[in-house]
Amino acid sequence: MSGAQIITGHVLCFEGSPFEADAETVARIEEAVLISDGVVVQVGALGTLRKAAPEAEIHGFDGHLISPGFVDAHAHYPQTAIIASWGKRLLDWLETYTFPEEMRFHDPDYARKIAARYLDLTLSHGTTTVASFCTSHAASVDAFFAEAQQRGLRAVAGKTCMDRGAPAGLCDTAQSAYDDSKALIARWHGQDRLSYAITPRFSLTSTPDQLDALGVLWGEEPNCLMQTHLSEQKEEIRKASELFPLARDYLDTYERHGLLGARGLYGHAIHLTPRERARLAALGASVIHCPTSNTFIGSGLFDLAARVADGINLGLATDTGGGSSFSMLRAMAAAYEIAQLSGTALHPAQLWWLATAGSAQALHMGDKIGRIARGMEADLVAIDLASTPDIAQRHARAEDIWEAIFPTIMMGDDRAVKAVWVGGVRN
Ligand code: GUN
Ligand code: ZN
Repeated sequence: MSGAQIITGHVLCFEGSPFEADAETVARIEEAVLISDGVVVQVGALGTLRKAAPEAEIHGFDGHLISPGFVDAHAHYPQTAIIASWGKRLLDWLETYTFPEEMRFHDPDYARKIAARYLDLTLSHGTTTVASFCTSHAASVDAFFAEAQQRGLRAVAGKTCMDRGAPAGLCDTAQSAYDDSKALIARWHGQDRLSYAITPRFSLTSTPDQLDALGVLWGEEPNCLMQTHLSEQKEEIRKASELFPLARDYLDTYERHGLLGARGLYGHAIHLTPRERARLAALGASVIHCPTSNTFIGSGLFDLAARVADGINLGLATDTGGGSSFSMLRAMAAAYEIAQLSGTALHPAQLWWLATAGSAQALHMGDKIGRIARGMEADLVAIDLASTPDIAQRHARAEDIWEAIFPTIMMGDDRAVKAVWVGGVRN
């Protein structure tokens, strides 16, 4: 075995979804994990793994949680430098802060600098896979993929297409959106651990012609994901119905243009009609919950328990920089608090699953990342469950593993992330 490593700690292994069975049934804690050649070889007792790989280097993280790296299923790396911008809601936030910042990405050097900064930040928070929107500049996609590739990351990204409702400097056309996206797919999709997502920003910034063109492209490139936004704020939904008078609802603005399918990722999706919920569930499309964003820009309270009951696939995300953090721990905490407001106490196992296996499944990568099991890619994090004095004193009272983990979910940040492995390489 080349480069074999054994990592010890509380190795968290999910065998199913804690939304479908008790945490005790679907999750177990093992003593150690053996990785080699970028993948997980075996999980189990330290003695057994040492026998299997006597030459392995041992990394001791006793008392720490060894988890899959976090999977952030929706983010905007170009918004790194404008995160935590004050006082606006979605549409004026886009105009005031986001579009002016995204204009700066016509400069490839700036794009490269922010992509590097973003990936360094997310890695320091234990995120090893992200699905990111770029800007409308093809160079912003090249910059992101190049920086992700340099770090050995599994990453999803796409050029954000917009041919109306945005400054001229950010607008493309139906044809150029198709051409640029097609060329980017040829350049990046399937290279190393990178994959392309066709990315219409949202229905307010695409003409029907552009949505048609991207729907055709998705038909030609069915292995690509498609990522967009859906029903985030009520004012946005009103505008969508004015711009698409024939559409039955917001989701139909995508559906009628070939942009609804199992490999579709729909960010936010807070204010859905019964038809929209039924269609998303029937097609196996994924809704991405962005809880820190939904509170920060005042979008609304996503009813996670109800969407689980609808049978909709869910992922979890930061939505940086509409979201107010780079941390998937913060996203878990916000998801917990929002669910509490609608009467559901999400179990820590459910929160952790959403941030790892759930998001991986939403990205159709559940067979590669998001769980620690034989053959899975070795994207791992070692989490200190007593990383600060306030967390440590609560952790000291914990009577089981989930009680030990929960204070870190609620109060943890990058100080809890003690080590990160990307494709088996320690960062
Ligand atoms: N809807 C369209 N664009 C955006 C964006 O950049 N962030 C968020 N949160 N919602 C959007
Ligand atoms: Zn977004």
